[in-house]
Amino acid sequence: MSEVLLKGKSKVVRQGVCDDSLVIEFLDCVTAFNGDKKAEFVGKGALCAAISGIIFRHLEKHGIKTHLIKDVSETSVSVKKADIIPVEVVVRNKSAGGFAKKYGVDEGSSLKNVVVEFSYKSDTLGDPLMNESQITALGLADQSELRDMADEALKINQLLVNFFASVGIELADFKLEFGRYQDEIILCDEISPDSCRLWDIATGERLDKDRFRRDLGDLLEGYAEVFNRLNSR
Ligand code: TMP
Repeated sequence: MSEVLLKGKSKVVRQGVCDDSLVIEFLDCVTAFNGDKKAEFVGKGALCAAISGIIFRHLEKHGIKTHLIKDVSETSVSVKKADIIPVEVVVRNKSAGGFAKKYGVDEGSSLKNVVVEFSYKSDTLGDPLMNESQITALGLADQSELRDMADEALKINQLLVNFFASVGIELADFKLEFGRYQDEIILCDEISPDSCRLWDIATGERLDKDRFRRDLGDLLEGYAEVFNRLNSR
């Protein structure tokens, strides 16, 4: 296997076969609270790889440009080597998690509009929220890139709200990362129960990483439920 370029909390990135490709391996490791809580669940990497693959292919089919090239194994995917913009984009359809806590709004409350938030992708700083002028002041991204990312995030949200609703799941919120690739901004990283809040519409059951963050139940069972529903769609 080629050299490891980057080891993240839940993924490893290696050089791909061509110069401008990478191989991302999804690990069984799961972390929360900026890495303070950690565990391993055998099979989690494969489930996230499979779910993220289904979602990225769905988005590609509907005109969203992504880094995806092809699956290379149960846990690895070959992707375009984009220059990752160090700004995480969170989209919220319902109050939950950090939003509920910060603004004192009950989890599950409706919002009058979809929320798009930017934060600085920095583990050492704990991914702090950032407004547009702070991002441009530090040169992390420019105005037009931020506009493209926000527009793209809202398009992705609409596609995914409908996609998950078709299998009885509410997409409460999720996090995206984008990268620069050949003069374009493309969707990178992953979209999986590690990076989304997914609520069973019928029961309200959490099917995502909150099972681990909040000790709500078996993590793999929730992720497998998401996979099975999307896969049999
Ligand atoms: P938050 O409520 O903790 O801000 O998280 C919002 C959404 O973004 C939630 O679905 C989890 C996801 N997320 C990540 O994937 N990685 C992160 O580092 C953070 C802070 C959130």
